[in-house]
Amino acid sequence: MMSASTPSPLRVAIIGAGQVADKVHASYYATRSDVQMVAVMDSRLEQAQAFAQRHAIPSAWQDVHDMLRAVKADVVSVCSPNRFHVDHVLAALAAGCHVMCEKPPAMTPQQADQMRIAARRTGKVLAYDFHHRFARDTQLLREAVLKGTFGEIYFTTAQALRRCGVPGWGVFTNKSLQGGGPLIDIGIHMLDAAMYVLGFPAVKRVTAHSFQKLGNRKNCGQFGEWDPAQFTVEDALFGTIEFCNGGVLRLDTSFVLNIREQSIMNVSFCGEKAGATLFPAHIYNDEGGILRTITQREEADDQRHLRSMEAFVRHVMGEPVMIADAEQGWVIQQLVAALYEAAEKGESVTLC
Ligand SMILES: NC(=O)c1ccc[n+]([C@@H]2O[C@H](COP(=O)([O-])OP(=O)(O)OC[C@H]3O[C@@H](n4cnc5c(N)ncnc54)[C@H](O)[C@@H]3O)[C@@H](O)[C@H]2O)c1
Repeated sequence: MMSASTPSPLRVAIIGAGQVADKVHASYYATRSDVQMVAVMDSRLEQAQAFAQRHAIPSAWQDVHDMLRAVKADVVSVCSPNRFHVDHVLAALAAGCHVMCEKPPAMTPQQADQMRIAARRTGKVLAYDFHHRFARDTQLLREAVLKGTFGEIYFTTAQALRRCGVPGWGVFTNKSLQGGGPLIDIGIHMLDAAMYVLGFPAVKRVTAHSFQKLGNRKNCGQFGEWDPAQFTVEDALFGTIEFCNGGVLRLDTSFVLNIREQSIMNVSFCGEKAGATLFPAHIYNDEGGILRTITQREEADDQRHLRSMEAFVRHVMGEPVMIADAEQGWVIQQLVAALYEAAEKGESVTLC
């Protein structure tokens, strides 16, 4: 149901014409007849022009303010490198647009807070693309938590690990443009999924250890090549988050780590009455020593990224659907910062 105040079609502008804008944002918007992509901007004009041509977008820009002034968009997708999220989100909100911003929200909690406050002040929707929470698997586990299937969950493990998966494109190995390595890039996804299923419990204390052992020595992997001399981020981080309710969350994340698997992106939850694995959703316990499956999905939902985009558009159109909102984005950014701080100082960081 479209809200009376929602323009139709929704006019969308895209900032940052890279791979996620291409494969996810523009690809999704193109499936909707009630959405029209009107402009794309990239700091490399030829990149914006090629993108515009590929997606039949009528205008390509190199300056974000010129674009926002000229095209009068209703919605902006921010798909630029992390360092620019804050400026692009604030500019889009100030121009009166609803915003879908790629993860991570920003580089620092202070920036995510500014973005949160700006969204509240302008009354516009600000959503972050933490898409794993939109998987049917994640929804199923969240419902089970609310139904009390697990009892108290006191141990959670979140893993975002790759055996040789340093991104060879973009700026993912550059700390000043990215804010960090696997934690802020992929660990943050499993952290959000875990926090979402747990219902965002308050955090008491954080400890962490980070390493740079392989990314600055190797120069190629499954996602291309990089310059080890320019590898300025951590290549692995192992952290523990203690909740005020007594529960503990372990987070292990790495771009390159000598593990058996090629990649692990998963979360498991251990409660008093049952436990669960997220992808694919599987809930289990035992009865009198007999191992029992309570619920199991055959395969993990591979449409979660499109579901995240769909939730955003429907939310903008006035439907009461869940989004990864500016408040939760700020909390996740605080946890990322606390994990980095704890690893850097070699001591725990207390949050409440
Ligand atoms: N949700 C997900 O799973 C997911 C997946 C991939 C990327 N991302 C996020 O999306 C963002 C972009 O990642 P990507 O993989 O598409 O990278 P990319 O390098 O493919 O694309 C980034 C684009 O931004 C452009 N750019 C650089 N500086 C800019 C500026 N100041 N203004 C405007 N454009 C600028 C670059 O020219 C490039 O075209 C990152 O924040 C990343 O974390 C999220």
